[in-house]
Amino acid sequence: MNQLFRRKPISELLVEGDQSLKRVLGAGDLVMLAIGAVIGAGIFGAIGTAAAGQTDASGQVIRYGAGPALVFSFLLLGGACALAALCYAELAAMIPQAGSAYAYAYATLGELVAWIIGWDLILEYAVGNVAVAISWSDYFTTLLRGFGLELPAWLTTGYRTALLSSNPDLHGLLQSAPRIAGLPLLVNLPAFGIVMIITWLLLRGARESARANNIMVVVKLAALTLFIVVGATHLNSANYTPFMPNGFTGVHQGAAIVFFAYIGFDAISTAAEETRDPNRNLPLGILGGLAICTVIYVLVGFVLTGMVPYTELAVADPLAHALQLSGFQTVGWIVALGAAVSMTAVLLVFQYGQPRIFFAMARDGLLPKWAARLHPTRRIPYATTLVTGIAVALASLVGDAAETYDLTNIGTLFAFALVCIGVLVLRVKEPDRPRPFKVPFVWPVALLGTAACVFIMVGLPPQAWTRFLWWLAIGVLLYAVYGYRHSLLRRRSTR
Ligand code: ALA
Repeated sequence: MNQLFRRKPISELLVEGDQSLKRVLGAGDLVMLAIGAVIGAGIFGAIGTAAAGQTDASGQVIRYGAGPALVFSFLLLGGACALAALCYAELAAMIPQAGSAYAYAYATLGELVAWIIGWDLILEYAVGNVAVAISWSDYFTTLLRGFGLELPAWLTTGYRTALLSSNPDLHGLLQSAPRIAGLPLLVNLPAFGIVMIITWLLLRGARESARANNIMVVVKLAALTLFIVVGATHLNSANYTPFMPNGFTGVHQGAAIVFFAYIGFDAISTAAEETRDPNRNLPLGILGGLAICTVIYVLVGFVLTGMVPYTELAVADPLAHALQLSGFQTVGWIVALGAAVSMTAVLLVFQYGQPRIFFAMARDGLLPKWAARLHPTRRIPYATTLVTGIAVALASLVGDAAETYDLTNIGTLFAFALVCIGVLVLRVKEPDRPRPFKVPFVWPVALLGTAACVFIMVGLPPQAWTRFLWWLAIGVLLYAVYGYRHSLLRRRSTR
């Protein structure tokens, strides 16, 4: 039992890291990084379902939408994420190592929990990217349509989307699509393609430089500002009544889906070791980035639900759709372009992160050795980059965005909650260890952060919970048959 909860000493984590990184980032840089990792499919795609709710193919309600009260969902999420992000920052500054929450858990809650988090992070990074790729494809298709190019629906709709959709056109594809060996051929080719292109870029060693990130951040902000400014000229107060069509349940369930729009803050906490004066700049950067995103999201939510009745928003590209319904074809097209660029940036960050988490786990012996192999000259984890790329691309080919959002959200919220608990555990177990950044009022912040994450998780449909629990069960089984036996830490300690 003790061995299951054996913690990896932080000193060991630090020795493994490269020599310490150069402290070059200020609060402003962190804000840019945050916006780069955060704004993407959530605000351009998931927001539609969050506002309108979701029914299954038989018309049964799967979740209630927030309606115009979506702005409350965004405020709730902004607060919850701020608490979790502060906890991330403390651990990231103490344990600056590839692997993010996985590495923090190894040092705080022990090997079994670390494994579970590592396994769980697949939901955030790889599964999350399936949703982003599908959403990217929806906007890409809108863009092509602007050029008068219409791809056949069976080439832009994954099998699961057709199967689950309550939209008769999409559901009807099950019958009308071409067939191979009796099965309908329903594939999302653009989603597959973009993931393969990104994988190819990453394999060449290309990664987001600060400069490229800054350009994409400007594009994101410009697209959303354009949407807000133009949309605001076309508000109809009738659309705001009723403001909370499904009461607090709608706000809660809407928040649980649009939580996706906030994911990515944990990625910036990993820049802790490169931050100047981290005690000041980390909270400023993280909270500043969150505040800016929250303000933008609230404005987008307010304008979107004022432009068209919220029930119109249950589509894959709600922002462009609302603009087009309001007669702004060209602006709709420009915003779609901004959306596609924004999501490309998110795909890159997450497709970059996942292989490094696998790499960190393999280096600890919890995954097979081949996963820790680095390219001899480029020094990138090429094996895991390729495997992740192919798996995500194949899942995007046939997957459905809404069900993928759910799984990503529940997995990420779980990781956030464990990180909040991890901070407290380490404060008790190693109170004297130097902390470049300390969470202020750590007990209330961490406990409230945990409670907020669990509360948002509760807003997800039962099916998401069932799948999540299955996912964890499979993970524990894998640990039992592989990780437990091959863990380097355990082997060293039992030798
Ligand atoms: N927050 C990121 C997005 O919305 C994951 O695409």
